[in-house]
Amino acid sequence: ATPSGPYDALIIGGGPGGYVAAIKAAQLGLKTACVEKRGALGGTCLNVGCIPSKAMLNNSHLYHQTKHDLQRRGIDVSGVSLNLSQMLKAKDQSVTSLTKGIEMLFKQNKVDYIKGAASFVSPNRVAVKLLDGGETEVEATNIIIATGSEVAPFPGGAIEIDEKRIVSSTGALDLQEVPGKMVVIGGGIIGLEMGSVWSRLGAEVTVVEFLGGIGGAGIDEEVAKQFQKLLAKQGLKFKLNTKVLSAETQDGKVSVKTQSAKGDNEETVSANGSGCDHQMPYCSFKLEADVVLVSVGRRPYTEGLNLEAAGVQLDNKGRVVIDDQFATSAKHIRCIGDVTFGPMLAHKAEEEGIAAIEHIKHGHGHVNYNAIPSVVYTHPEVAWVGKTEQDLKAAGVKYNIGKFPFAANSRAKTNLDSEGFVKFLSEKETDRILGVHIIGPNAGEMISEAVLAIEYGASSEDIARTTHAHPTLSEAFKEAAMATYSKPIHF
Ligand code: FAD
Ligand code: NAI
Repeated sequence: ATPSGPYDALIIGGGPGGYVAAIKAAQLGLKTACVEKRGALGGTCLNVGCIPSKAMLNNSHLYHQTKHDLQRRGIDVSGVSLNLSQMLKAKDQSVTSLTKGIEMLFKQNKVDYIKGAASFVSPNRVAVKLLDGGETEVEATNIIIATGSEVAPFPGGAIEIDEKRIVSSTGALDLQEVPGKMVVIGGGIIGLEMGSVWSRLGAEVTVVEFLGGIGGAGIDEEVAKQFQKLLAKQGLKFKLNTKVLSAETQDGKVSVKTQSAKGDNEETVSANGSGCDHQMPYCSFKLEADVVLVSVGRRPYTEGLNLEAAGVQLDNKGRVVIDDQFATSAKHIRCIGDVTFGPMLAHKAEEEGIAAIEHIKHGHGHVNYNAIPSVVYTHPEVAWVGKTEQDLKAAGVKYNIGKFPFAANSRAKTNLDSEGFVKFLSEKETDRILGVHIIGPNAGEMISEAVLAIEYGASSEDIARTTHAHPTLSEAFKEAAMATYSKPIHF
């Protein structure tokens, strides 16, 4: 639409933070526009993040299961083969239908969708370089910055991403053939999800992680250990406490140079793992990969926004500084999602989008940062909310643990899918739930019950005395709660 401001609310960025804020603003009667420069709504999440990665995770799991797991279930299939281009097409179709769906929602809610790149001219005016050519200026009383994040480049420029041999998550979602050998730099969420996809499709995957455990920030250490064991059983290899120094492409192969995280032992990781050839004082492995995935984090994205013209300040990590009402140093400009503080998660950005608009309209809004779930969509899934055991120990909080294995859950057994456990952490004195950690089938759906419980200030006993249908996986959740203050029945 041709913008016809001035607007009550102008949202810059059409990702999960921005598009949700725009719809909410329009629903609350604000005249609203959303500027998006990528040519499609949905941001990182829908275009190159959550959605395409889940399409690949789901379909690679089905392929792997069909190939390796159906026979023991009494299903004989033959001639199973991978049609990668069709799998990629199916992924692209999901993305397109969802991004188009948001365009429909914009129309229904009367949000003006301005296709172009926004840049501040003054605190209330934004210039938009239109994708169709030309430029326009838009004026607004309230502005929300929701410009998201981008792949963090490898420190010091030691690795250059070409999205073919050395890829970010974006390239890893679109590889046109299954790599023989893949090295994943960073054992965080992206590394484990994308590593799983390509491992299931046939690649030999080695994950190199700087820290002593996988899963990234916020994962419970006990869960991380179990997670690593299960992924190793599926064929992924891990090199922990190992820092990647550089990666270089030569003759179509990439060689990756690493060093022990303590900094005393340099090696070159190559896919044939031929061992140490003792180049003193370093021990050097010759190991090559066909594809290297760089997944060492993401960073806030504010390029081209010209924030100086609006008086909006950044911190030393490039995040837009906000107060508890999402207001930046220019009070009528708010900021949400990946480009500001907090976990870089789509649902966190969405909650903030709604709350920021409610602040504008009503003067109050609400996001409970203690109750934001994290989910890793591997198989089994890993999900958590609230405090980890290591958090509680560090804070000196006294707690009880309740654990229940899926191996003792009837539905998981019936489904022949019984790896993992549910772990409750409750305050010793009050039994209030402080954290829940799940590794197992459907963990990502099950964690919502824990989020709700924490949101409502529930105790473990509240959960344990709530009827859960039989036979369901969620009975493992109930029994873990029971184990926190008493004994579970089935274990
Ligand atoms: P973004 O989604 O990054 O959207 C920002 C938008 O702003 C972009 O579309 C950009 O083009 C636009 N923009 C930027 N500057 C301008 C400008 N000047 N003018 C106009 N437009 C501009 N999170 C989950 O919760 N679950 C998952 O399963 C999950 N999987 C992921 C998988 C991958 C591979 C990746 C990379 C991320 C994943 N994430 C996941 C994280 C999730 O994608 C982000 O947390 C989420 O997209 C953040 O939303 P946002 O609205 O803050 O920013
Ligand atoms: P991450 O921060 O989760 O993990 C990066 C990992 O790389 C860390 O474990 C870190 O120790 C390691 N690392 C850093 N430098 C290294 C080096 N030189 N050598 C070896 N290891 C090194 O970042 P990631 O995986 O890139 O994901 C970015 C963000 O995207 C996540 O934090 C998450 O917020 C979001 N995301 C969420 C998903 C979900 O919710 N399911 C899926 C994918 C991404």
